[in-house]
Amino acid sequence: MPRKNLIAGNWKMNSTIPEAVVLAQEISNRMERDWLELVDVAVCPPFVDLKPVKSVFEFDRVDIAVGAQNVYWEPKGAFTGEISIAMIKNIGCAFCIVGHSERRNLFGETNEEVNLKARALIEADITPIICVGESLSVRDGGTYLDFVTAQVRAAYAGMDAADAARTVVAYEPVWAIGTGRTATPEQAEEVCAAIRATVSDMFGAEVAESLRVLYGGSMNEGNAALLLAEPDIDGGLIGGAALKADSFIQIVKEAC
Ligand code: 13P
Repeated sequence: MPRKNLIAGNWKMNSTIPEAVVLAQEISNRMERDWLELVDVAVCPPFVDLKPVKSVFEFDRVDIAVGAQNVYWEPKGAFTGEISIAMIKNIGCAFCIVGHSERRNLFGETNEEVNLKARALIEADITPIICVGESLSVRDGGTYLDFVTAQVRAAYAGMDAADAARTVVAYEPVWAIGTGRTATPEQAEEVCAAIRATVSDMFGAEVAESLRVLYGGSMNEGNAALLLAEPDIDGGLIGGAALKADSFIQIVKEAC
């Protein structure tokens, strides 16, 4: 069965509640309902915006999913400042980003924590979007495939094939995030194919063939079509271009 593209907007730390509601409403207004038969669409706003954004989509009866950008794996308790999986589940999140490079690099998130988060999310039937990607120095050093596939192996440690089948991977080269320097379709395809091969090696060809591997890093309405045309790229995790309804909608259209 062909894989359905997934276009997910990562709003990062942008948008107060009123701003988030306006953006969600614009996205809903401009989204042709037919496109949503052909492509899955999600937005991942900050925690405080999740419920208001979800409410906009529910009120409009539009099939746009909502996801969180992070979560903590413990069920509850004395973890000041953290948000549990039950909390985002209760809001209706279908997805949660884990291991974004900004969390790894700015907040010290480790491969082990990414694994704990991904496994706890799967248990709660929320799809983790597992982010991997190399820095510029790793790319220039030529070891990027080893680096990224090691991140993939660590993220999936201890999972079985059924668990792995309920995940999404996003390849986000750090040097392409927010820099305007997009990976070429060939560069992105090389790593996305290596990710799929790693998942195939760990869990078998069937899981690997059904796995969605997204590309993220300065994806926009101008470069999305060529990236999405690559055989192992099944969608995008969009940062800056997801903050404007115009560009986000154009990318969704390209993914149909
Ligand atoms: P940009 O699209 O702004 O480069 O961000 C990509 C990203 O980090 C999505 O998670």
